[in-house]
Amino acid sequence: MKKYNQNEAPLLEALSGYARSAPGRFHVPGHGGGRGVPEDLLDLTGPGVYSIDVTELPGLDDLNSPTGVIARAQELAAAAFGAGRSFFLAGGATQGLQALVLASGRPGDRIILPRNCHRSIIGGLVLSDIAPVFLRPAVVPGFNFTAGVPVKEYDLAVSEHPDACGVFCIHPTYYGTVGNTGEISRIVRAAGMPLLADEAHGCHFGFHRALPEGALAAGADAAAQSIHKTGGSLTQSSMLHLSRGSLLDPERVSSAVRLIQTSSPSYILLASLDAARRQLARRGFDLMDRLLEVSGSLRDDLSQIPGIEVFGPEHIDGEDVFDFDPARVVVKTSGTGLTGWQAASWLAGNYGIYVEMADRDNIVMVLGPGAASGECRELALAVRDLARREGGKPLPPSSGLGDFPDPAVVVGIREAWFSSTRPVRTEQAAGLVSGEWVAVYPPGIPVLLPGEEVSRAVVNYLIEARESGARFQGPADPGLEYIRVMDI
Ligand SMILES: Cc1ncc(COP(=O)(O)O)c(C=O)c1O
Repeated sequence: MKKYNQNEAPLLEALSGYARSAPGRFHVPGHGGGRGVPEDLLDLTGPGVYSIDVTELPGLDDLNSPTGVIARAQELAAAAFGAGRSFFLAGGATQGLQALVLASGRPGDRIILPRNCHRSIIGGLVLSDIAPVFLRPAVVPGFNFTAGVPVKEYDLAVSEHPDACGVFCIHPTYYGTVGNTGEISRIVRAAGMPLLADEAHGCHFGFHRALPEGALAAGADAAAQSIHKTGGSLTQSSMLHLSRGSLLDPERVSSAVRLIQTSSPSYILLASLDAARRQLARRGFDLMDRLLEVSGSLRDDLSQIPGIEVFGPEHIDGEDVFDFDPARVVVKTSGTGLTGWQAASWLAGNYGIYVEMADRDNIVMVLGPGAASGECRELALAVRDLARREGGKPLPPSSGLGDFPDPAVVVGIREAWFSSTRPVRTEQAAGLVSGEWVAVYPPGIPVLLPGEEVSRAVVNYLIEARESGARFQGPADPGLEYIRVMDI
């Protein structure tokens, strides 16, 4: 086996060598190492970063055909993340997930995936003309967000669709929960299909035993990770890993990654991946240990606030919530009479504290390698103040929105996406075919995809969701007074 020295950062070092060599810069980007960057931007950022904003120059390799420092940096990443092969991505985990769809099958094939999958995967279906077989995720009682898909649903799906070209799991969800990915991988493997993990929120898992098992370690064939979310790299920079012995053909994956990769990937982003990998490999355990201590204290402080409930180990049920990420702090605010949306905007307006996400019942905080205990104490004090000043009677449980409808597919998603659409009042859309993607939060489920029938049950569900104050993602009209339907 090849030996890797995780103290190396070949790409970062090559870039730093180039910047120090006082080069003549007659190449893109045309700002000449920062000289042409607008002054107000320069004031905000400082000059340093522009010296490594370069292009494919001798010694700096080429992401789309790597043989030098980028190839070496990717090999080091594969070793650090327990992968057989890793790809640096300049287009987010989105690019990795879409590449996985493209590399798994061919037009007309089927792929099995949770209905609450990220929209990038839906985009992958449009690009590839691969048809979805959806699995229904469980909804966590009380907190009212979607969790994993029960193992038996995977079991049933692979036996009903033995020719499916792959199976997706979300490991973890945005809320930090993971399903029983180990068991799912055994079932999917036994059926001869690759298990593809959306691990956008979980790149830190492999670096501490108190965190859930990483997707590859649990048996997935591939995992797309947003290193920028929890791994310390810069926004957009991500990786796609293939397991050792992955059922996917690495050359097809590589070709799919290139197909949807910009020809001008940012060296700043790529260098940040190399540096973040080195930091995690050298000090990941200590960083995660500190992170867990900080997030543990934050959970303790928050759970003592009247009306506040923190999602924690007591909510693990061994099935839909098989495990959860203790670094992700999900706080139910609806017990104080405030929606998560109200709590989030109150915290921003009164304390200048910005949370990652809010839904009807909860606010969600992302803590990563940059988590700071002082900042967490301020958050806990602010939430206490919020509950004291604004709190009232708990909100009633949200209506039966967990009982989402299952629309019939009338037209394939790719054909529907390319067709012309027109707006109709949502109340009058029953019997028509959706021309857009409509997800309802909570619980975060796409109720409609392009090409699906807008049945009476769907219209009723959407109207009920609208009237209960739920929010929509995807539709051209965010208030969903109108819905775009196919012009057929
Ligand atoms: C569950 C999930 N998967 C995939 C993605 C896409 O990741 P990226 O933003 O790195 O493209 C996201 C982004 O928020 C996500 O929440």
